[in-house]
Amino acid sequence: MSDPTRRARVRALAKLNLGLKVLNKRPDGFHELRTVFQTISLADTLAIEFTPAGSTEIELVSDLDIPDNLVLRAAKLVMEALSVTGRARFRLDKRIPMGAGLGGGSSDAAAVLLALPVLAGKRAGLETLLELGARLGSDVPFFLLGGAAVALGRGTELYPLPDLQARQAVVVVPPVHVSTPEAYRALARELTATLPSRTINSFQTLVWRLSCSVPRGSWEEPLENDFEAVVFDQYPELKSIKQKLRKLGACPAMLTGSGAALFGFFRSASEASRACAALPKQGTLPVATVGRARFRAMWWRSLEAHMSRKCWPPESRYS
Ligand code: C5P
Repeated sequence: MSDPTRRARVRALAKLNLGLKVLNKRPDGFHELRTVFQTISLADTLAIEFTPAGSTEIELVSDLDIPDNLVLRAAKLVMEALSVTGRARFRLDKRIPMGAGLGGGSSDAAAVLLALPVLAGKRAGLETLLELGARLGSDVPFFLLGGAAVALGRGTELYPLPDLQARQAVVVVPPVHVSTPEAYRALARELTATLPSRTINSFQTLVWRLSCSVPRGSWEEPLENDFEAVVFDQYPELKSIKQKLRKLGACPAMLTGSGAALFGFFRSASEASRACAALPKQGTLPVATVGRARFRAMWWRSLEAHMSRKCWPPESRYS
């Protein structure tokens, strides 16, 4: 009898925030955001096995003990939503530093939402997946789309941007942990002082520049991350890293999410590697941006044996 287990190895990419504006606290407790997400080549790897069975068993193996792992939560959620039962096994190889503003946990969760229905022989439309993603976390829906996207609301209302020219960047992850809820709270205390209309205008300018200068993609100013004001206050060493990145030629250089990771864009791979050599070895990572076309091609390659055709989201050949 043939082996009923279906296997795939997928990559869960990290993201950067190309600018992040926080407008106000909403009645649901989240903050109203304006940001542009961009996927990058830094990635976790997830090996997935699915065996159809009458009952459900979900297991995760990882070198790191991650409490309340989003992989398990995503698997349970999508299997329940699609009324599918079986044994799902995951092996997670973490490369994306955790709690750094790079979206690692969210990307792992989105990878489960994209891959598991294909292996389990269920069709899940983009709308269903986006809705399930938003239940798992504000950054999860973006990783169902990849490339560059404008995010509004909680960060879950997404509008795709055309692929920008691939760029070389350097990510620096300092040995500091910034609590996202605390960073939001600290920022909220200062929000009344800013004018939302000015914030929105400068964000508009950014999106126009990003979308109208395709394929070159002008990523220079006005990229700003509102968290820098409060996070740099608390951790001045992060401000020094930003200054160092700028001195090394990065334009722009800034915090991603609520940190603690920072990134800088460079004009060429050689400039980026010179910058890497001048920064502390530990926690400095050379990366490249990954556009939507490459993001999809990567997914289609990973799920090729289990897909009916190349479409988005990937569709199962077992359904
Ligand atoms: O959605 P997620 O679990 O990633 O959010 C983590 C925390 O970040 C939330 O509990 C909230 O404190 C804060 N947050 C926010 N506004 C957002 C996104 C996150 O206040 N738009």
